[in-house]
Amino acid sequence: MECLKIDNITKVYKGNKKEPDKIVLKDISFSINEGEFVCLLGPSGCGKTTLLTMMGGFLEPTSGKILLDGNEIKGPGSERGYVFQNYALFPWMTVKENIAYGLKFSTKTKEEKEERVKYLINMARLNGNEKKFPIQLSGGMQQRVAVARALAGFPRVLLLDEPLGAIDFQMRELLQNELDQMVQEAHITAVMVTHDVSESVFMSDRVIVLGNNHGHIVSDYKIDLPRRRDRESEEFKKCVTELTSLVRIAFNENITAGEACIMKRRK
Ligand SMILES: Nc1ncnc2c1ncn2[C@@H]1O[C@H](COP(=O)(O)OP(=O)(O)O)[C@@H](O)[C@H]1O
Ligand SMILES: [Mg+2]
Repeated sequence: MECLKIDNITKVYKGNKKEPDKIVLKDISFSINEGEFVCLLGPSGCGKTTLLTMMGGFLEPTSGKILLDGNEIKGPGSERGYVFQNYALFPWMTVKENIAYGLKFSTKTKEEKEERVKYLINMARLNGNEKKFPIQLSGGMQQRVAVARALAGFPRVLLLDEPLGAIDFQMRELLQNELDQMVQEAHITAVMVTHDVSESVFMSDRVIVLGNNHGHIVSDYKIDLPRRRDRESEEFKKCVTELTSLVRIAFNENITAGEACIMKRRK
């Protein structure tokens, strides 16, 4: 069943006297089914965060619509858990308070909320750090708090913008395992932005490769490998190789110099 629908999205960032308007995404369409884990992969600056931010309802498309279960997304909502590219934790709140904030609008009882926060702290391997403030945590720990907070209220869709981007390699694979397990258990629909090809192969059912040409979809790549995926298997490595080539194509897919993202140059 279709869950998210990206329907002919165009996004233009308005320019000013010095900067022309910038077409970041042009006529982008695809759908995401319920329970699917989809990665948006592509070169830096191709519009991944812009697209995810619109799914989150924090930014409006210039034209086109994004629908969740058939309803147009018009702003942020509790049915979408969001993990921002930069941690975006509340610096004045402890780890526990930050995670509990994800339940602020939940109708669950106090005990149920306590239970949920406990579970999330455990899951994110933050035990013993409950009373620490974000400034006292490593980047990786901050990101784990952000993921736990986004999952707290059992959202329908989880939107993740490079959630493991700042995490060192060792911890990154562990967290990929945990995130994979959580997502599989929760049967949640998820969209994740990443620039890490191996991560996209490990995590997703589908990888959408966006190119430099206004976010043009270079490939909608299905990954049918059984889960928990074996990073050392030949099939896994084959997907990584194929996707790496596709990202290379996406990177080289430049818009013509004359066009150069300019919709209209202001006088
Ligand atoms: N608020 C903004 N105003 C103007 N340009 C923006 C804004 N946000 C992003 N951009 C530009 O839009 C392009 C796409 O950005 P972004 O969606 O962050 O890309 P990605 O996440 O793929 O790296 C970039 O060239 C970026 O500089
Ligand atoms: Mg980004």
